[in-house]
Amino acid sequence: MNIIGTGLSGLVGSRVVELLFPRHSFTDLSLDTGIDITNKSTVEEHIKKSDAPWVFHFAAKTDVDGAESEAALGEKSPTWIVNVTATERIVSVCKTMGKRLLYISTDYVFDGTKDTYSEEDLPNPQGWYAKTKHEGEKRVGEDGIIVRIANPYRKIADKPDFVKKIIGRLSGEESIQAPTDQLFVPTFIDDIAFAIEKLIERNASGIYHVVGTQALSPYEAAKKIAAAYDLDASLVEKTSFEEYFRGRAPRPKRAVLKSDKIGKFGVQMHSFDEGLEKIKVL
Ligand SMILES: NC(=O)c1ccc[n+]([C@@H]2O[C@H](COP(=O)([O-])OP(=O)(O)OC[C@H]3O[C@@H](n4cnc5c(N)ncnc54)[C@H](OP(=O)(O)O)[C@@H]3O)[C@@H](O)[C@H]2O)c1
Repeated sequence: MNIIGTGLSGLVGSRVVELLFPRHSFTDLSLDTGIDITNKSTVEEHIKKSDAPWVFHFAAKTDVDGAESEAALGEKSPTWIVNVTATERIVSVCKTMGKRLLYISTDYVFDGTKDTYSEEDLPNPQGWYAKTKHEGEKRVGEDGIIVRIANPYRKIADKPDFVKKIIGRLSGEESIQAPTDQLFVPTFIDDIAFAIEKLIERNASGIYHVVGTQALSPYEAAKKIAAAYDLDASLVEKTSFEEYFRGRAPRPKRAVLKSDKIGKFGVQMHSFDEGLEKIKVL
């Protein structure tokens, strides 16, 4: 199938393309390919002239802490313009052209006050980045597919994920601080790619949590990374969520999303232990 997508040069998108090609062929609309999705006419023109039945909308401004200072700008903020205004236009041109849309969202749409989150739970985003991603979800609505992911990691990437950042620090014998009282569900990017393929094959609609099956703290995750890569685990130091994120964008302390719904499609999501083993040998 031909697929036209935004942000396919990013951390997640580039691996989705690698894994789904050549079963599917891709046209990328990202800054890398000279296309700014905030330029209304350019994006519309590319989507309109494409014969692709699916549009993958992955492009976003993803700097969570950087976005926070823009909150006062509201709809004029660069993060809003990319994550909401451009999304709204892409949704609109998809409707006009009868194309299906798949949008990537985030665990940060939740406030982190519940033990776990299913697709039925109501978002309550805290930071500005999270708010813009949730507004993007609202623009996509029930007709599209919304795939919520969390802390994606992979084997090789130009843009480092959190696993590679920790490996880099520990390899350089730098100590790192990691919260013991925060919970997240890191997600192996290859699982995201296969889940997306299944969703489009089934012509699905609605919200899907596509996340790792293991909830753990950043401290536990960093210790596991050190052990997996024979690095000095004593460089991983304990801190608290409050201490670590003081002065930074608000985010969920406990973002334990459940991915049972995508599991019913026969998609096998992996735990962090399994994902770490896979990225070592891939
Ligand atoms: N990474 C995470 O931890 C995480 C967690 C949850 C959800 N997500 C979501 O997953 C999706 C993919 O994230 P990612 O980590 O792959 O992001 P990324 O590596 O930061 O890549 C972002 C992509 O968006 C493109 N882009 C940004 N602004 C653009 C613009 N104005 N016009 C055209 N393209 C633009 C970038 O193009 P260039 O490469 O050419 O600059 C790049 O391809 C995003 O929607 C993000 O919100 C990410």
